[in-house]
Amino acid sequence: MIMKVTKTNNLFGDVYISGSKNAALPCICAALLTKEQVKLINVPDIEDVNNLLTIIKDLGVKVKKEEDILTISAGRVKTKVINHLVSKLRGSYYLMGSLLARKRKVQIIYPGGCEIGERPIDFHLQGFKETGCEVNDTKEIIEISKKIDRETSITFPSLSMGATINIILSTCIGNGITTITNPSLEPETLCVIEMLNNMGACIIIEDNKIKINGVKKLKGVNYHIIYDRIEAGSYLFLAGSIPFSKVTLHNVDHKHLEVVIVVARKIGIKITKIDNGLIVEGPEKINKTNILIGPYPFFPTDLQQILTVVLTRSDTSKIEDAIFPDRIAHLKELRKMHAYVYDYNRIIYIKKSKLKSSKVKATDLRCAFALIIAGSMAKGTSYIMDIDYLFRGYVTPVKKLKAIGVNVEII
Ligand code: EPU
Repeated sequence: MIMKVTKTNNLFGDVYISGSKNAALPCICAALLTKEQVKLINVPDIEDVNNLLTIIKDLGVKVKKEEDILTISAGRVKTKVINHLVSKLRGSYYLMGSLLARKRKVQIIYPGGCEIGERPIDFHLQGFKETGCEVNDTKEIIEISKKIDRETSITFPSLSMGATINIILSTCIGNGITTITNPSLEPETLCVIEMLNNMGACIIIEDNKIKINGVKKLKGVNYHIIYDRIEAGSYLFLAGSIPFSKVTLHNVDHKHLEVVIVVARKIGIKITKIDNGLIVEGPEKINKTNILIGPYPFFPTDLQQILTVVLTRSDTSKIEDAIFPDRIAHLKELRKMHAYVYDYNRIIYIKKSKLKSSKVKATDLRCAFALIIAGSMAKGTSYIMDIDYLFRGYVTPVKKLKAIGVNVEII
């Protein structure tokens, strides 16, 4: 799929933020922990979610989808996860945790996801071993079985959202007691914990640790998924990158975006907080900045590529991404648009550039959105190849973009 983007002079209007992709994926997998019906509300209609639903239907799970409400009934669940879609999305790895809790065994093909540098799953597998599982990893297929429940304390080599959630999922049913001493406490992790506790799990957050007391079984629940802070941040920087724009973002949890708002204001974007939303005004001038990206509450890695584009309007800026330092494929594409962006020693340097339209290629989900911003800023008409990535994680992006005046079209 190709997207045509033509320079936009200013943006006006409203964007309604949808449910969080990175919370919805583990919450869907958490629904497999009970035989009772689970209703998930505010589920984003995106390709990653739809692919995960196809995978769980393949496991015998009944799924009904009505707008943003999903009804999931996992009366029976198979433990062999061999649908080829597993290798298309990262979030499929949460099926390891949920099937271990529910059936005490799982066989799954290797999870995939956007290519944004090395994405190992060693913390997950090590964590499963430490909590009493036997793991057989052929690098194509992973077989795990839960042998014993024990009292364990896990310390990951560094913070990982995926590994934290997978260990929580896998240990919340059973007789074990698991403490994660350095968990990821991202809003998406807290969302899954809240859902599981509402289902009857006993997961306690104390002194920056997560303690999971295994329970006998979990029950059904109706649960509202949080709004997507990365989608909100994407539209925030889009509006902020085009001078004289004024866009209102609805369904925004301010506390999830604290550092993003601080950074946006620092570079000159005007942000006004309103009830469950933000008014974003694009400034005439973008100020330079140096940003260190890290785990929440730091500035999120998922907005790094998007911020890179905005900063091409500033004097020399620097971004260091401590989570995915190799998420730099967008730089080559931006250079085709005459952006002065390069990486040296795992730091991205950005100099003031006058972007020119070009033919570029989306290399992953966030790169796709970043290139749309670049296309809106650049003189002329740009063509973004492989824009398909965008639909993995953004709900009705063309409709939302057009609603605020972005000149986009799928051709
Ligand atoms: N890591 C390891 N080994 C592991 C797990 C992680 O070395 O077993 C490293 C990673 O290489 C990375 C760091 O630990 O350097 C953090 O990775 P984390 O596990 O937190 O990331 P993830 O679970 O693979 C999720 C999101 C990503 C998001 C990151 C960070 C999903 C499906 N993916 O990935 O989302 O960038 O957390 O917040 O939830 C996106 O939405 O565009 C996206 C890539």
